[in-house]
Amino acid sequence: MPSMAQNGRVTTDFKQSNQAHNSNAFARREEIRQQRESLPIASVKERLIEEVKKHDVLIIVGETGSGKTTQIPQFLFSAGFCREGKSVGITQPRRVAAVTVAKRVAEECGVELGQKVGYSIRFDDRTSGVTRIKYMTDGLLLREALLDPYLSRYSVVIVDEAHERTVHTDVLLGLLKNVQKKFPPLKLIIMSASLDARVFSEYFGGARAVHIQGRQHPVDILYTLYPEKDYVDAALVTIFQIHLEERHGDILVFLTGQEEIEAVERLVQERLRQLPESNRKLVTVPIFSSLPSEQQMRVFMPAPDGHRKVVLATNIAETSVTIPGIKFVIDPGFVKARSYDPAKGMESLIIIPTSKAQALQRSGRAGREGPGKCFRLYPESEFEKLEDSTKPEIKRCNLANVILQLKALGVDDIFGFDFIEKPSRAAIVKSLEHLFLLGALTDDCKLSDPVGHQMARLPLDPIYSKALILASQFNCLEEMLITVAMLSVDSVFYAPREKLDESRTAAKCFASPDGDHITLINVYRAAEDLLEKRKWVPHTERNEKIFKAKSEKIFKRWCKENFINGRSVRHARDIHSQIRGHVEQMGLRITSCGDDMLQFRRCLAASFFINAALKQPEGNYRAFGTGQVVQIHPSSVLFQSKVECVVFNEMVQTTNKYIRNVTRIEYMWLTELAPHYYTMQS
Ligand code: CDP
Ligand code: MG
Repeated sequence: MPSMAQNGRVTTDFKQSNQAHNSNAFARREEIRQQRESLPIASVKERLIEEVKKHDVLIIVGETGSGKTTQIPQFLFSAGFCREGKSVGITQPRRVAAVTVAKRVAEECGVELGQKVGYSIRFDDRTSGVTRIKYMTDGLLLREALLDPYLSRYSVVIVDEAHERTVHTDVLLGLLKNVQKKFPPLKLIIMSASLDARVFSEYFGGARAVHIQGRQHPVDILYTLYPEKDYVDAALVTIFQIHLEERHGDILVFLTGQEEIEAVERLVQERLRQLPESNRKLVTVPIFSSLPSEQQMRVFMPAPDGHRKVVLATNIAETSVTIPGIKFVIDPGFVKARSYDPAKGMESLIIIPTSKAQALQRSGRAGREGPGKCFRLYPESEFEKLEDSTKPEIKRCNLANVILQLKALGVDDIFGFDFIEKPSRAAIVKSLEHLFLLGALTDDCKLSDPVGHQMARLPLDPIYSKALILASQFNCLEEMLITVAMLSVDSVFYAPREKLDESRTAAKCFASPDGDHITLINVYRAAEDLLEKRKWVPHTERNEKIFKAKSEKIFKRWCKENFINGRSVRHARDIHSQIRGHVEQMGLRITSCGDDMLQFRRCLAASFFINAALKQPEGNYRAFGTGQVVQIHPSSVLFQSKVECVVFNEMVQTTNKYIRNVTRIEYMWLTELAPHYYTMQS
């Protein structure tokens, strides 16, 4: 059990969290009205509207949970900012936030989602011609700018959670600054939770900043006495320690990703079964970005009577999503972040310690409704060593995607673009080089026609967009669509620690000796068969319903037996149908290579040639582009195989450098299919 050192006073004065659950619609409306009125922002409504009227650029800073995201768009609507068919657009760095907030605001307005209030995120659009308050991801608004450079359908654009400094937010700010110079009627509001508004204000030439006072109750911070070897285990122990020793109040645990969250969910269930019946009143609710949207709202629902809720979240719950009822926060102190090495041109996801600012935001989540406690699963001395704030994403990611979009928007001089914080020259050069290798740019660094333009239209990583374009020439677009969809979701297989052998045996029945891409196709097609094969039933409405219910049940059982993550497969199906729509619109030929997997593998080689690796005498692989020594990840079907040459999609760094999603190819194909790269190398 992690031993906790107490820092600060012990609070005994718990306030009952107000989660009265009313089934009655009238009571629910009344409850919402009261909640809205009690938000700190409610008392400054008129003042805020005046400020927006007076200033074309306004910066609003306010404590998380004060009501910025849900209320300000409604204030603007009621003040007449949506006349003449114009809308208020609000960007969020995260999909989940856009979706959950839009649902909440639709409910507050008493309208159906997709009517007056809607959201739009990649692969999921819930808006219509009458939508006037539109929540969306920052990436999506950037895409809209491709079609409507002056964002003329908006009267106000709100860039929310600007302190997150995602690469899309940073680029969007640059773009909006430009648009506003040329198209002054567009109002711009920048909202942020952190207290440092100066950087935004200076960037917009000394723009006006207003601060909204929040309410924050005291939070006791507890640290462990010693560093924890296994933070997942420490989190688990702390959950049960709180559950068994503390009075009521929900728990929020910060984890790094879907797999970790799902593992903790299972472990909590297992430990609960070992407790006496009376102590089992604990429910877990996950929240992470790829969670299907119908499940996302569960975090906002109160736990059943007498139960305690444990929310297992990624850093989504730091600022983007405010969950009511939280009294205890467990913070292992880690976050999954993108990292980019421009010298090697390699982007990877790594788990790193949070910054001090993040740790403070996380602990603050415990004190929204009353005094709370935050359990940091590291010693206090470690806190002092954390970075003050998180490095903007633009400084630690591959810029190929962003550059492609900027070029499509007519910004040719990337070095001269007015970024709020400039990415390094080396990173820009490397990303331009990358796009050039993919054939997206001409010799004079303009978008190539048609490839570059087609790539910019697809809402995918450039390397995947290129793979789809090539696949239509290789007659395997059907296979590549599935592959790209499956590569766009979190891991499809799960391997619980306690059932490692069983899960590996199950995975073998999908495994292709050629590698992971074909294996993913096998899983996808098997799932599709289960969910759609309806040969044996005549088509009637009733049969359709029965079939759906039956196939859902069979699918669930199949997922369980095969250790397959049903959520990921469903998500992939969804993405598949959307990208299919895009490529159809672009007029690409969708055909299948049938059993000719050689053709498909050649297409993989032609697409992912930048990520190829050759076996070394001592058994490791050496990546061509970067010269790095890598190993095939244990989760790959080619782990411990003896194949000579491979292409891969991802590199992860733990104790070793691993490559994931790997397929066997012939070395000769590389010089044949990517001579511009491979003759250069030799
Ligand atoms: O943006 P900011 O952090 O200032 O606050 P907000 O997201 O507008 O949240 C205001 C209030 O709405 C909070 O008390 C949330 O608990 C509540 N809320 C909710 O109950 N359900 C949602 N889906 C979103 C917000
Ligand atoms: Mg907010």
